[in-house]
Amino acid sequence: MKIALVSGASSGMGEEMARQIALRFPSLDGIWITARSEEKLARMEREFPGKMRAFPGDLTGEQVRTELRDALIRKNAEICILVNAAGYGKLGTVGQVSGSDTRGMIALNCTALTALTELSLPFLSAKCRIINFASAAAFLPQPGFAVYAATKAFVLSYSMALAKELEPQQIYVTAVCPGPVDTGFFSVAEEFQKAPFYKKYFMAKTSRVVARALSDAFAGKTVSVYGAAMQSLRVLCKVLPHALILKVFSPCSEANTTRNASEQCSDG
Ligand SMILES: NC(=O)c1ccc[n+]([C@@H]2O[C@H](COP(=O)([O-])OP(=O)(O)OC[C@H]3O[C@@H](n4cnc5c(N)ncnc54)[C@H](OP(=O)(O)O)[C@@H]3O)[C@@H](O)[C@H]2O)c1
Repeated sequence: MKIALVSGASSGMGEEMARQIALRFPSLDGIWITARSEEKLARMEREFPGKMRAFPGDLTGEQVRTELRDALIRKNAEICILVNAAGYGKLGTVGQVSGSDTRGMIALNCTALTALTELSLPFLSAKCRIINFASAAAFLPQPGFAVYAATKAFVLSYSMALAKELEPQQIYVTAVCPGPVDTGFFSVAEEFQKAPFYKKYFMAKTSRVVARALSDAFAGKTVSVYGAAMQSLRVLCKVLPHALILKVFSPCSEANTTRNASEQCSDG
């Protein structure tokens, strides 16, 4: 059976990816969706009966990945589209963001993404697409969002290298690098610190970012950047010294001081 596999499919861009893939590729036999929220995935299954199949679980653990691998083998599945959208970020300086979140971002955004990609490799067919969600945060270091930006720089670098490695097999890899998008991302991100005010002026619509990402992936583009502002940022980050850009845009301020010692000691 020919399938698409979408992580982070319970909300935001992963959910929108699963929906748009269902509509644009009706010949697929199934769209396998994964995230932790069982109820939200079940709702998607009800909305697309016989098409969506839920694999609820925490992607940073082994269990759901093992279930996916077993199902791929059992069904003799061919993955035509793999979307790695599961990811999160916590705004705040290093030391302000909890240790468990620092490790959690690396575990989900980097380790789980590479693990899901690796387990999918034997099931990918020629002409298939791997779509990895990086971020415009990958373009330059971000004080106040340091670990998240570093994880996304990893995703961008990894995806571009993988694209080259898989070229002979005609497997195309696209790193999606949006600026701020109107998903639930910021309600998670703002636990320790508010987003800089200018982010809301660049907020893009989820459906448009996803439509662009799908079009770019099927046009064989290695990097997908939605909107003139983020495309300009990408060019600026290539031609100007990062130290200069950081001087202008650094979101760190006196207000963003580290949490007190007792708060930090209580972190997991
Ligand atoms: N929104 C933005 O401004 C923006 C900009 C650039 C890049 N991105 C990137 O785009 C991707 C999608 O984000 P989004 O904006 O759509 O955010 P979102 O609405 O918060 O969606 C994140 C998804 O990741 C899943 N997830 C979180 N932790 C997980 C875990 N441990 N195991 C499995 N799934 C997990 C969530 O589902 P559960 O909670 O149900 O597990 C959810 O489906 C992320 O990689 C994000 O870094 C976002």
